[in-house]
Amino acid sequence: ELGPYSHFMQKEIHEQPRAIADTIEALIDDGVFSAELFGDKAADVLAGVEGIQILACGTSYYAGLTARYWIEEIAGLPCTVEIASEYRYRTAVANPKYLIVTISQSGETLDTMEALKYAKSLGHPHTLSICNVPESAIPRASELVYYTRAGAEIGVASTKAFTTQLVALFTLAVTLAKLHGRLDEATEAEHLDALRHLPGSVQHALNLEPQVKAWADRFAPKDHALFLGRGVHYPIAMEGALKLKEISYIHAEAYPAGELKHGPLALVDAQMPVVVIAPNDRLLEKVKSNMQEVRARGGELFVFTDEDSHFGPSEGVHVIRAPRHVGVLSPVVHTIPVQMLAYHVALARGTDVDKPRNLAKSVTVE
Ligand code: F6R
Repeated sequence: ELGPYSHFMQKEIHEQPRAIADTIEALIDDGVFSAELFGDKAADVLAGVEGIQILACGTSYYAGLTARYWIEEIAGLPCTVEIASEYRYRTAVANPKYLIVTISQSGETLDTMEALKYAKSLGHPHTLSICNVPESAIPRASELVYYTRAGAEIGVASTKAFTTQLVALFTLAVTLAKLHGRLDEATEAEHLDALRHLPGSVQHALNLEPQVKAWADRFAPKDHALFLGRGVHYPIAMEGALKLKEISYIHAEAYPAGELKHGPLALVDAQMPVVVIAPNDRLLEKVKSNMQEVRARGGELFVFTDEDSHFGPSEGVHVIRAPRHVGVLSPVVHTIPVQMLAYHVALARGTDVDKPRNLAKSVTVE
């Protein structure tokens, strides 16, 4: 079953070009973004909503945080994202014009299911589930469904489920933009083209594995690591930190790079590896000055960027570059190296990669 791979996690990381292609197959075949991708009744619902409330746990929550940037920027709709286990126990004020979007690989996560029920009880009539397991509890309880087609995910650490959730959520953002009159034909064609090229770009990122692996020995003896990103790449830094802590048991924290000087910079010294997600987007110059703050305190930088940033290695600064900047879908491509880093650090530390201690694949208890 594992083929040439040593673990399910490694296999599932490498399945991502295929999983993404499968998840967008219907869209690419149609050649247009259409509400039907989300179910028969979706056109009226999606055209009528005035905002989006996303509810999820763990890695799925980080997919939601990424989607917020796309939904607000591309569709111009307000979007809030909340951890399901928090939402379900607070007195939330419902706006019935907001679409509730739950994100769950398994479709069985208890807190996400209970958050969905709570949202409905507060008077939210419209619900959409982004899910990887057909006919599981959460999509069955939802009005609209988009199934990711990652295939069975066996490794406890979520990998291909996350990137396919991202493409489903990007598809949602563009579809909402279209239904709300905020998408011209040229931009629609551009977004479609970006998706069509995504499996290839993800494959290019996978080809960086030997370079990422070469970093693993430097992380293996560490007790702590920081992950930095800005904008749409901040949730990818969070996902990178979660992957590292759950399978290698190294304490890792993610910060928006602009927050460093408001506290976490006090942690930085020569012992602290700092991973930075720094693609060539409009925040790159800001991220570079944050990196200088780290270097000035002796922190060692491990930077994931792309060729377009023309950012090179220097003393204490290690750099791995994806072949090119892929624009709006860059967070998907930059997920790949942080997954591979966690995987190879875990191997170097000899942990049980596919079954990390204390964790279960599907969390059906509170
Ligand atoms: C982390 C991980 C978890 C899940 C979370 C939600 O690698 O897998 O954080 O993302 O338990 O699970 P689902 O998506 O099944 O609701």
